[in-house]
Parts: sequence; structure tokens; C-alpha cells
Amino acid sequence: MGPLEGRRIVLGVTGGIAAYKSIEVCRRLVDLGAHVIPILTDAALHMVGETTFVALASERPKTSLWDDPDPIPHTTLGQTCDAIVVCPATARIISDYRTGRSADLLSATLIATEAPVILCPAMHTEMWEHPAIQENLGVLAERNVIIVPPEEGRLAGGDIGKGRLAAPVTVVDQVLATLTAEQDLAGLSVVVSAGGTREAIDPVRFIGNRSTGRQGHAVAEAAQRRGASVTLVTTSTLPSHADIDRVEVVSAAEMEEAMKGAAAAADIVVMSAAVADFRPAEVATGKIKKADGVPTIALVRTNDILAGLGANKPSGQILVGFAAETSDLRQNATAKLKRKGADLIVGNDVSAPGVGFAHDTNAVTIFGADGESIDIPLSGKDLVADAVLDAARARLG
Ligand code: CTP
Repeated sequence: MGPLEGRRIVLGVTGGIAAYKSIEVCRRLVDLGAHVIPILTDAALHMVGETTFVALASERPKTSLWDDPDPIPHTTLGQTCDAIVVCPATARIISDYRTGRSADLLSATLIATEAPVILCPAMHTEMWEHPAIQENLGVLAERNVIIVPPEEGRLAGGDIGKGRLAAPVTVVDQVLATLTAEQDLAGLSVVVSAGGTREAIDPVRFIGNRSTGRQGHAVAEAAQRRGASVTLVTTSTLPSHADIDRVEVVSAAEMEEAMKGAAAAADIVVMSAAVADFRPAEVATGKIKKADGVPTIALVRTNDILAGLGANKPSGQILVGFAAETSDLRQNATAKLKRKGADLIVGNDVSAPGVGFAHDTNAVTIFGADGESIDIPLSGKDLVADAVLDAARARLG
């Protein structure tokens, strides 16, 4: 019996070149025990064949509102499914879904369901970056639609960039996480920091770093899925689930204030933000002009937020830090763990390929103050997030 046994999943396939990958997603979901009902749009039928899905899915694929024995297939599907996965999701379906436009069987089914919806966008980089797409996805994320972001890579026509459909395994992991998540953090309060801080030099310039906030956001989303009440203190513009209490900050000082307030009553605190260690001693009130010569910017230390939280940790709280290292991971990470009074430190060697800042993947070792360590090989940031929460959960009294 697979983990998705008895689950009815509508697999919406739209007309992107990545539609061929939906065949692999279909097969993997069926292998995990799911009952998969494909809906192929007209455009999808230009890309992949109906027969393939006839052979692999649990039911004949549906291709129209009009030739189904059920007079209202969209409401029947919407009401009876446990999840809808749209893979790939083109700009068209994203736009229709955002506006509630019922243009075909798939878009009608999407607005006729209360089940979780997972969208896997795939398109050319220019389309992915277009404000219309980003705005539509932002609105959908606020409505709790789960977005599996595209990856960086080779696109149709040989271009390279962001927009390639997430790997089938990533899509299936998301389905598993959505439908099988244990509510093992129900009743707990989890506070997470995410993103890189920006320390102002003058009104237009700042000192920043390469953090995108993806790992921290993944921790917050995973905690929310697992039933925790979550506060996310973030510098990032990435979307977050509507039930997450989101506090937007810019600088290390703002983050420190928000974290101090939120962490006091938390069961688990995860400092995944990349906090600046230094800030300009003074912020120029006006823009620094070239004509005034090359400026010397004096820096001062910022407060170490994690160390402050460690020094004032309420009893029973589990405090988690991160350590981005380029050498001697174990030694540096465990030293940081002690110095900052954390219970766990998530160490990553950011010099390794695919690891750390600005990647969709991460490879980490989680070191415990109790001397234990767990290696998580290169995985999606969602899996790393769950592993971090597993380690924290296991240490709660
Ligand atoms: N951190 C923090 N406040 C800071 C700097 C870092 O809370 N001002 C937190 C980070 O969120 C992370 C952990 O401390 O959880 C590790 O940060 P890092 O910068 O790698 O550690 P440092 O103590 O700065 O060590 P080093 O400069 O030697 O790498």
C-alpha cells in the first residue's frame, strides 16, 4: 500500500513544452497508490498524446466539458478530489485561475474545488519574470494555492534561464507533503527568520548579501503545514501562506526587535536569516555624490540576534541557528552552536555545488548541542526544512 492509497488526484496538464514531464508525474503518483484523473487541455493535446495517459493513469483522461458522460464533470471532479496538481501550469491557466475565468474543463474544475491546489509553472524566463505572472502567482499564493517554483535550466529553443518545470520528483514530493503531512506541530508556536538583511549606506544604497530567503520560507511553510502557528520575520518578497503571521523587516536592527518580541513565547525558533555582521556606522541623510570623492564607510558590528536569543532562551524552547561555511564545516558549525547558545545548528558548506544561497537545493548537516548530527544530502529546500523541524520536534520536552 503506497502513501497515497485511496487519494484522488486530478492531474491538470496544460500546453507547455514541459507537458512531457507530466507523464512521469502521473506514473509516480500512480506508483504511490494515488487514483490519478488527468485533465488535458486543448493545448496540452498538441504536446502530449491522450493514449499515453489512457495507459498510465487510473481513468481515461478528460479533455472537454462537453463529451463526458457526467453532465457536470467539473463540479464532480472538484468536489471528489483530494488535490489538484497542474503540471505544467502555463501563463494562461495561471491567469484564468487568478481571475476565476472558467474557460475549459480544467479552469472550471480549479474554481469548483476546495481541495488543495498545487501549481507547477513552466515558461520562458521573460514570461516567468513578467509582472502579470508574478502578481497572479502572488495573489494565488495568498489564497493558499501551493506553488512549486520553476527551476533554472535549459528551456525550449535552447535558451537557458529560470522557468524550467520543477523536476517530477519535486512535484511528487510536494504532493506527498501536502496530502500526508502529519500535524505533529499542532499547538506549537514556531518563529522563523528568513532572508538577507540590508544595512543602509545612504537613501539609495545598502550593504546586502546573496540570501534569497528560500530556505527560511520553506521552514515556515513546512511548520505551517505541520500544524504550528507560525511567525515569519522576513526581508524577502517571496510569498507565504495566508495563515503565517508575516513580519517584514529590512535591517538587522529591525529583525532583532521583531525576533526578540516574537521568540519570547515560542516553542521553536529558527534563525535562518543571513544577518549582516556589520553596518555602516552612520547612514548619510542625502545620496552620496561621486563629485565628493570616494567615500570611506566606517562599519560597526551589528548585534548577534541568535546569540541574544540564546542568552535569554526560555526553558523548554528549542533554538536553531544556521552556519554557512566554506571550510571545516563540523568544527566551525559546532563552535558556533556553543558560542551562540543554540540547541541545533544547521551547517552547510556553501562552496559545494547546488548548496546554500540562491539555489533551490541544499545539503546540510544538523548538529545538536547533545553531540548528535544528521546528514541531509543534496535535497529540495522543503525536505531540508522538514528535517530541521523533525530534529527540533524530537528535542522538545
Ligand atoms: N546571526 C545572527 N545575528 C547576526 C549574525 C548572524 O543572528 N548578527 C545568526 C544567523 O541567522 C545564523 C547564525 O547566526 O543562524 C550563523 O551566522 P554566521 O554569520 O554564519 O556566524 P558568525 O557568528 O558571524 O560567524 P563567522 O563570522 O565566524 O562565520
